[in-house]
Amino acid sequence: MTRPDRDRRFVARSDAQRAAVDGARLDAMVSRGAAASLPSSWEPDDLVELPSLRPITARECSHRGAQCLRRPAAEALLTMLAAMRADGVAGSIHSTFRSYDVQCMVFRNWAYDDGRGFCRAATGSALPGHSQHQLGTTLDLLSVAWKAQDRGLSADFGCSPAGRWIAAHAEAYGFVLPYPLHADYRERGESCGVAVHGAMDPRTGYAYEPWHLRYLSPALVRDFADARARSSAAGSAELTVDQWLRQRAGRVDDADLPVCDGCACGACSTLEGSDAAGSPCARDEMLVVDADGRPVIAQPAATVTILRATARRARERVVIEATLSVAPGTVTQTPVAQRDEVRFEEGEDSARWAPRERAAPRAFRDLVGAVRFAVSAEETGPQERFAHRIGITSGHAAAAFNGAVVYLPAPSGSRRVRLSIATRASRVRVALWADGRAISPSEIPVEER
Ligand code: DAL
Ligand code: ZN
Repeated sequence: MTRPDRDRRFVARSDAQRAAVDGARLDAMVSRGAAASLPSSWEPDDLVELPSLRPITARECSHRGAQCLRRPAAEALLTMLAAMRADGVAGSIHSTFRSYDVQCMVFRNWAYDDGRGFCRAATGSALPGHSQHQLGTTLDLLSVAWKAQDRGLSADFGCSPAGRWIAAHAEAYGFVLPYPLHADYRERGESCGVAVHGAMDPRTGYAYEPWHLRYLSPALVRDFADARARSSAAGSAELTVDQWLRQRAGRVDDADLPVCDGCACGACSTLEGSDAAGSPCARDEMLVVDADGRPVIAQPAATVTILRATARRARERVVIEATLSVAPGTVTQTPVAQRDEVRFEEGEDSARWAPRERAAPRAFRDLVGAVRFAVSAEETGPQERFAHRIGITSGHAAAAFNGAVVYLPAPSGSRRVRLSIATRASRVRVALWADGRAISPSEIPVEER
């Protein structure tokens, strides 16, 4: 196995060189996105040691392996821990501020020393520069009882008394859980994570972490909670803190693709102008983003053409297959094929589609500049609706992103796409779909068996 971390280069060199997030802001956008990273030199200047609240430098904190947070976060934490104790739950701090170099070590431990490999490590550990722990406002909080059982950082901590207490009360003290449980992964009505096994949440790029707390301040938490309530009332999946910060920055899609890290080829992002050194991903398999994290849409929609399309009946369904020619630089979006096709059940289309069994349906609204393959099976009514729209990409990494409405790179060359619709239609219309309109629509007969 290669060890790209040896020289601090887990990510494309120029992505790291252009890291520009101001970590002093309590609302700093630090996530897995290519444009959401802290410079390696950034460190907080108001760290205090816990529990004494004695000022300490970042260097000393790292050197001594002490537990440190920025003063406002530390003070809020001590108040919260006292309230927890009063409720009969003894919290136990697991990890606090981590410098860039310490994060390198932590990531290396998970990826190599612990034997997980780069890809699994990347869903649970941030690449250096991308960790909220570097902000000095973030900590991992477990409990004395949990630690005594030696159960470590596992999702079922969310169902322990301490996990439930944190989920219910942390916001009152100015803390949020940036990596909550995605509704798609809630099984058997559980809301705390017993049945989750490290599934990557496309909203954040990480698995569920019921112990990872970030201090924002009570005022920012109130604003976030209001926005989350509004989005839930509008039928969207629960808004995460990362998504909220992105919305405030004017982004229209739900999530950033993870920075290109040698792991998720075909579903990663890199900054415009990057040489992508250190990443094994082919250039046209990456979403290129500008310094603000917005996708650079290099090619117009016309660079995708439908080479062939067929429709055949399979019992109550019609299966539509197409071969497309895709030019480099084309950008597409979710939903994408989970295994070999996207299945639309009766009454489902891209405005209301459930990405997996028992998941709540949601709308895969159009993202500006994204090109999709689209089908209309309507015998009557507005033919141009092409309500069944799917992304032009496939593969397990891309499928993981169906939990969010997100831009994806469309790999260039000849691409096959397949969807099936529960319909009795004898003819369907196919088209490419971009920016709210159908391009090159044509009608094809359904072959009856
Ligand atoms: N575990 C979180 C994602 C971090 O490493 O910052
Ligand atoms: Zn953490």
